[in-house]
Amino acid sequence: MSEANLVLRDINKSFIVDKEKVEILKGINLDVKRGEIISIVGHSGCGKSTLLKIVAGLMGYDSGDLELEGRHISGPDTDRGMIFQEHRLFPWLTIKDNVCLGLNKMQKDEKYKLAYEYLELVKLKGFENAYPHQLSGGMSQRAAIARALVNRPGILLLDEPFGALDALTKIQLQQEVLRIWEKEKTTMILVTHDIDEAIYLGDRIVVMSSRPGTIEEIIPVELPRPRDRGSSDFAYIKKRVYNHFFKDVEIISDYVI
Ligand SMILES: Nc1ncnc2c1ncn2[C@@H]1O[C@H](COP(=O)(O)OP(=O)(O)OP(=O)(O)O)[C@@H](O)[C@H]1O
Ligand SMILES: [Mg+2]
Repeated sequence: MSEANLVLRDINKSFIVDKEKVEILKGINLDVKRGEIISIVGHSGCGKSTLLKIVAGLMGYDSGDLELEGRHISGPDTDRGMIFQEHRLFPWLTIKDNVCLGLNKMQKDEKYKLAYEYLELVKLKGFENAYPHQLSGGMSQRAAIARALVNRPGILLLDEPFGALDALTKIQLQQEVLRIWEKEKTTMILVTHDIDEAIYLGDRIVVMSSRPGTIEEIIPVELPRPRDRGSSDFAYIKKRVYNHFFKDVEIISDYVI
């Protein structure tokens, strides 16, 4: 049996813009193993968010096939959790009610028990009854992570989840994600513009080309965790990723090395 959790087979996607068909994704093939973290990097507009939305079932595709745990998926379901750059919590609900939102067919006290468990996991114990406006950006993103995890999704899709956060909070949350992953072993696909983040978290880095978005290279990151961002091995992978985007820019290579 294949150990792939998620299989993307020859996914093609286009949009109609001004009556013209614009190819956005072309021939995307990817097998994501159970418990694996995949980082996706690529130029702005290359189709990264489109790809995540397709996997989430929030958007259709022209041709190809998508399978999760061996079965074809089309629409959205709780087996896939998605986290966006902005937390998307409902401002009129407390944090615990935001986290409970996707939990159906459960008694209220059972829902709260689970919500408290996951809020503790993301280090938000004591903020269960707070409202989103009472939380910082990093705390709100933690709440969004708890909300996605509470459904025990088979796969977690993260679209630049820390893009709006300051550098220190971002690094702290990357470490948190690793800690959670070590406990839950959730399969993750992370879209990021931050090459360090891609290497720090990913088992493999998918580098996408622009217009139409294709998979240019898949770079394995065979470094033990937690990864040392200052190591020469880390810098070597960073250079490999940068070279896709700045092939002729010598200074970038010098800087990275
Ligand atoms: N609903 C839509 N209708 C038409 N075109 C769209 C639609 N959604 C996205 N696009 C186009 O598809 C392309 C890919 O968009 P997408 O948001 O997936 O890019 P991205 O790689 O996530 O970019 P970024 O890094 O800036 O977030 C863009 O050219 C965008 O204009
Ligand atoms: Mg995007």
